[in-house]
Amino acid sequence: MTVHFIGAGPGAADLITVRGRDLIAACPVCLYAGSLVAPEILRWCPPDARVVDTAPLDLDAIVAECARAHAAGQDVARLHSGDLSIWSALAEQTRRLEAAGIPYTVTPGVPAFAAAAAVLRRELTVPGLAQSVVLTRTSGRASAMPERETLATFAATGATLALHLSIHVIEQVAAELVPFYGAECPAAVVFRATWPDERVITAKLAGIASAVAEAGLERTALILVGPALAPGDFRESALYAPDYDRRFRARGSGRPPA
Ligand SMILES: C[S@@+](CC[C@H](N)C(=O)[O-])C[C@H]1O[C@@H](n2cnc3c(N)ncnc32)[C@H](O)[C@@H]1O
Repeated sequence: MTVHFIGAGPGAADLITVRGRDLIAACPVCLYAGSLVAPEILRWCPPDARVVDTAPLDLDAIVAECARAHAAGQDVARLHSGDLSIWSALAEQTRRLEAAGIPYTVTPGVPAFAAAAAVLRRELTVPGLAQSVVLTRTSGRASAMPERETLATFAATGATLALHLSIHVIEQVAAELVPFYGAECPAAVVFRATWPDERVITAKLAGIASAVAEAGLERTALILVGPALAPGDFRESALYAPDYDRRFRARGSGRPPA
């Protein structure tokens, strides 16, 4: 018996991995985080599967579900939104499973920041403008930010910022970032990327908070900030330059080596 943690992707059911889908179809128990996992994904559960929305459960109750399945020899598909490597509560669940001697695996998913970039049709690392992406958040009720992980510290690098769980404080976020990125810096907010009610708001950093307030959207959004969002006339990388010698393409040929 194994608990399979599966990244269910940002919303659209067809953005789950093939591995994730096949695991769901093979597991007689499915525990899913109902607040952000699309119900269509549950159609891959076997018809007689035990399917439990864990949104109203606490950690003890979730682990009890796993222990019950373990005792019955039943595999569990444990679904979380996006990918499991960020803000998924994976660490606290696997620590309990390890203590209980319950085996588990982890299958990655498409994270919301990647889905939002795709919705915007943007690369977040553009030569000469930004070569790093900071995935961060502001303090919330569930988790405070570690003291040294301040927005100002990250903003000082000029990297592309992908701010999660922060749409409710967008006004403070923008005010704090303007001194580093400038009022004219491009910003975007993507609400519920890849869901049917997806919305996109783009504006200069100084105007993004009022644009969001006007739209009246409040939940499940990513705030993206940085020059890579409107790159304009940037220089190309050397990767595809004709005189760049690399393993899969001989210098100057434009074609792969024979
Ligand atoms: C608890 S975190 C989960 C992150 C998830 N594990 C991931 O890989 O993206 C929830 C936050 O992720 C962002 N988020 C999740 N799904 C989203 C989506 N479809 N569109 C925009 N933002 C999303 C929002 O900032 C939301 O408040």
